[in-house]
Amino acid sequence: MSQRWADYRVFLGEFVRSFHSTGAILPSGRALARALARHVREGRGPRRILEVGPGTGAVTRWIIDGLDANDTLDLVEVNESFVRRLHERLKNDPLFRPAAERTRILHCPIEEVDGEGTYDVIVSGLPLNNFDADVVAQILDVMLRLLRPGGTMSFFEYVGVRPLRSLVSRRDERTRLRGVGQAIADARQGRAIGRNFVAPNVPPAWVHHLRSSADENQLANSMT
Ligand SMILES: C[S@@+](CC[C@H](N)C(=O)[O-])C[C@H]1O[C@@H](n2cnc3c(N)ncnc32)[C@H](O)[C@@H]1O
Repeated sequence: MSQRWADYRVFLGEFVRSFHSTGAILPSGRALARALARHVREGRGPRRILEVGPGTGAVTRWIIDGLDANDTLDLVEVNESFVRRLHERLKNDPLFRPAAERTRILHCPIEEVDGEGTYDVIVSGLPLNNFDADVVAQILDVMLRLLRPGGTMSFFEYVGVRPLRSLVSRRDERTRLRGVGQAIADARQGRAIGRNFVAPNVPPAWVHHLRSSADENQLANSMT
């Protein structure tokens, strides 16, 4: 079986078993993956790079493609089947093997990662629209804490998912979706440096790019 079909099979299985955290029926397509990895490709090393929610490695493949010689990569993944698949790919996949020595896999939720200002670039594939609003706010806070001042963070959301779901949902679900939108807007405020509309993805997606402020405390004060 080809690598791609092996990934589809693992992904579909986890979508059925753990819909809430997997959040997609298939791995990201090439256009979305490349848009998420954009700041890895465009920057210069040595850098510490973090990918959150790598799944079967659809985005990781493009992050590895953009690594400079002295960059290091950490992958934080909560799902054991995906962690196994990532270990396999680092060992056997010619696209992953060149980065094996400088890649660590952390098998835990991002909420449990300690540190401050550790990473120059963070790329997230988390399905934020599936989570409670306070969980989304906490996850975005953790990722911003882990980002060094001036570092970049990229994450995605499917276009129109919140308004569409809101149309057909009960009040508590509409409140949750509004809260998720607010948490994303708060994270972007004062930090957004652009977004890409990825039309070829199914469904189409926005990729948001943020730069952490040199003075995050001042930014927090200006928002209160
Ligand atoms: C939508 S999938 C994206 C997978 C992959 N990046 C891609 O684009 O195909 C979301 C991924 O995030 C992982 N995930 C969900 N919640 C997480 C958390 N709190 N911490 C770390 N990983 C998480 C899931 O297990 C899954 O691998």
